[in-house]
Amino acid sequence: MCGIVGYVGTNKAVPYLIEGLSKLEYRGYDSAGIAVNIGGAVKVIKAKGRLSNLERIVDMDMDTVLGIGHTRWATHGAPSDVNAHPHTNSNETIAVIHNGIIENYMEIKDWLINDKKCVFKSETDTEVIAHLIDYYYDGDLMSAVRKAADRMEGAYAIGVIAKDEPDRLVAVRKDSPLIVGLGVNENFIASDIPALLKYTRDILLIENDEFVDLSKDKVTIYNSLGQEQKREIYKVTWDIDAAEKEGFEHFTLKEIFEQPKGVRETLFRRLNAEDDLAMEGIRLTADELKNINKIYIVACGTAYHAGLVGRRAIEAFAKIPVECDVASEFRYRDPFIDERTLFIAVSQSGETLDTLQSLREAKRKGARVLSIVNVVGSSVARESDDLFYTWAGPEIGVASTKAFTTQLIAFYLIAMHFGRMNGKLTEEEFKTTITEMKTLPEKVTEVLAKSEEIQKLAAKQFNNEKVFFMGRGVDSDLAMEASLKLKEISYINSFAIPAGELKHGTIALIEDETFVVALATQDRLYDKMLSNIKEVKARGAHVFAIAKEGHLQIDKTADEVFYIPNTSDALAPLLAIIPMQLFAYYVSTLRGNDVDKPRNLAKSVTVE
Ligand code: M6R
Repeated sequence: MCGIVGYVGTNKAVPYLIEGLSKLEYRGYDSAGIAVNIGGAVKVIKAKGRLSNLERIVDMDMDTVLGIGHTRWATHGAPSDVNAHPHTNSNETIAVIHNGIIENYMEIKDWLINDKKCVFKSETDTEVIAHLIDYYYDGDLMSAVRKAADRMEGAYAIGVIAKDEPDRLVAVRKDSPLIVGLGVNENFIASDIPALLKYTRDILLIENDEFVDLSKDKVTIYNSLGQEQKREIYKVTWDIDAAEKEGFEHFTLKEIFEQPKGVRETLFRRLNAEDDLAMEGIRLTADELKNINKIYIVACGTAYHAGLVGRRAIEAFAKIPVECDVASEFRYRDPFIDERTLFIAVSQSGETLDTLQSLREAKRKGARVLSIVNVVGSSVARESDDLFYTWAGPEIGVASTKAFTTQLIAFYLIAMHFGRMNGKLTEEEFKTTITEMKTLPEKVTEVLAKSEEIQKLAAKQFNNEKVFFMGRGVDSDLAMEASLKLKEISYINSFAIPAGELKHGTIALIEDETFVVALATQDRLYDKMLSNIKEVKARGAHVFAIAKEGHLQIDKTADEVFYIPNTSDALAPLLAIIPMQLFAYYVSTLRGNDVDKPRNLAKSVTVE
């Protein structure tokens, strides 16, 4: 979704703004723009399309030390030059960038047009903010922003500059991400750390309903009552390389290949020298767990699919009933939740609005909240009672890959932790599973070493316009993730189906040369999967199967087989998804798509 940056300092501002925006491109956008204070005037430059369009028309050498920049992902009004941010008031004395949605903008806009005779240029909700700030402005930008914020409903992270205050940047946050970067004689705002990492590792995490006043040598944070807030500096420890491609053609490929590291870090940071669990962020005690009679796992997209796998792990290891729901549905179905409910939110970004609002709804109804999150200090992380950080490192590609496998590690460990606390998992089962888990990083490496097999498969199938993924048990959950991965970056129609459901309708779509991927990693259901493969083969399908090493008879049933290293049924999804991530990646590149930034998609979905 939208990305915002801002700079106030002593150097020329434009290169900082453009560099920062380039690091936020991964979030997804369809236009970009900057506004600077130059010679006592506000100057706005913006362009539809890629950042390179903006770069073509912007003078990097402009003599300005104050500016804001924005990448827009259209919500109100089509992608266009005029709807791109920054937006200004009628006299162009105030410029605003905004990530989020102003829900009551129509009402404010009517008032501004009818009573205050403001002239609007764009269709955006954001433009009302500029006019509203102008209405309240009497020489003090912070005071005007506070008054404007009082009237706005919705979610926003906003950056504002004014013509008459050439060394002041004001920002405010409500439910959309905002951070401040501290430099020497310069300070920054941004939506996300990668935008600032080239300039500083000293970050202030801005909380909801906080206002920030920035000049080149001072940053002051206020709460909604205008009281000054103290904030500890958060030191970014990961290297800038983690947010660079490091020789890989795309972030997506780099992130697929980073999975051995992500899996290792996420697992080994939770094991002590005796291979016992060290679950520091999870404070839930055995007594409190006893009181829990139901768990809801709620998330979106890939994180939801990790939740489906997690549900099976918790039910298997801890024998607690679990429901798993997509956040956009959960929010509106009035789920039965009380103080005996544990709510588990899963989110790479920790900023997905539906997940965040579901979490708040669950809390309001009395649930305890545990989150599995990748981005440190994100909203979901901050609003949770118990927290499990995955150690995937920054994920830039829109297609979630290493976040998924590290989320699976999180679920396996949480499930075993609960199972041990409530006595449903024996020490022997625990030890066997941990021993097996410790081999996973190596096994992920083994799978990645066979990427050429998948590249060849992609070369044969990339022109196919229809692909089916099927599986049984946890493989039916994994089929959904494999299908999502393919459709979001290749734009191919792909469908996921529990293999046992085939005969209830979907088999009607199978005809000569239909490409079917059969996930057959579950020992318990293996023979049933072989029958399902035969059923689609009998209708002419071309079947590519994924099976564990040692399951040899499948090579006589399917047309092609990819073998993953042997592991337990429960852990197999972590290995079986990797060839499917690679398949989606290679197909996407062969089709000439923008793999890291697929059309219409945003990395972090901060609107409903
Ligand atoms: O940041 P989150 O994990 O909350 O994001 C959830 C989904 O938006 C995300 O997984 C999305 O589905 C990805 N594009 C999938 O690859």
